[in-house]
Amino acid sequence: MAHKIILDTDPGIDDAMAIFFAFQSKDIEVLGLTTVFGNVPADMAAKNALILCDLAEQHHVPVTKGVARPWVGPESEYAHFVHGDDGFGNTYPEASKRALDPRSSAQFIVDMARAHPGEITLVAVGPLGNLALALRLEPELPKLIKGVSIMGGAAFVPGNVTPVAEANIWNDAHAADIVFSADWDVHMFGLDVTYDISFPPTFVDVLEEKNPVLGGFVQKAAQFYMDFYSQGREDRVCFFHDAFPIAHLIDPSLFGFTEGHMRVATDPLNKGQTALAPEGSTASPDWLNARKVKVATQVDHPKLTELFIDTYAR
Ligand code: RIB
Ligand code: CA
Repeated sequence: MAHKIILDTDPGIDDAMAIFFAFQSKDIEVLGLTTVFGNVPADMAAKNALILCDLAEQHHVPVTKGVARPWVGPESEYAHFVHGDDGFGNTYPEASKRALDPRSSAQFIVDMARAHPGEITLVAVGPLGNLALALRLEPELPKLIKGVSIMGGAAFVPGNVTPVAEANIWNDAHAADIVFSADWDVHMFGLDVTYDISFPPTFVDVLEEKNPVLGGFVQKAAQFYMDFYSQGREDRVCFFHDAFPIAHLIDPSLFGFTEGHMRVATDPLNKGQTALAPEGSTASPDWLNARKVKVATQVDHPKLTELFIDTYAR
């Protein structure tokens, strides 16, 4: 049976690639796209998700607007320097005429979890404010959810915003702390695996060849994104962070994990750090009382690439 997921997202170019990947997979049933501020402001994230549904002809998939700022502190600065002014590499696709679902992203998550108890995996590929708010709205949420798969964090590698923090967690560290502390089954796909793999320009060319509409969109949008990721390098590369947790649902054998106790730092200097104490590595109560998560630390690059291409080709 296909995995029922809610995809919580801040589209974003790698978000777009991941959303199309999920739509294309026969093993994934997308119950809704819940959007959140992050790469772009909350309004733009919601409108961009509608555009992606139009392109994929997924007109029945509800799209909601979510939190617009971090749990604590001022409005964020957005990543237009990575994703373009429009979030899609300055390609400016046509706006959708479809309306958003009127519920907040957090309310939608709670409603769907109550309607499908124990069946839904929350796949979060942006900052974690919607999930934290859903936990506040329904404290029993962890009992209603099958699992949580997060693109975010950096356990054993440097961050991409600060030396210790990855962007999704850094953008809303207090919300991430709430989410990582809740009593549910968390798989984390951070920079430990997503920065392990760079994709060459030919990768998006193949996606376009296999799927001219969806792959073509990713190929065009990714040119700006590649400019960013290729700065200071000899080769031209890009990274598709957000598709990793979806790939894991489709084929768990692609990844290896390290299990341990996770803490998310919220102090100003270390904000967003996701530090992991592997099982048996410490006797400190501060760490042993932290919840256990599974952090992806190995990935089969050739098979993952093949899965992306085969799924776009369907
Ligand atoms: O650090 C990578 C993450 O930040 C991805 O989710 C990307 O879309 C940005 O949100
Ligand atoms: Ca994202």
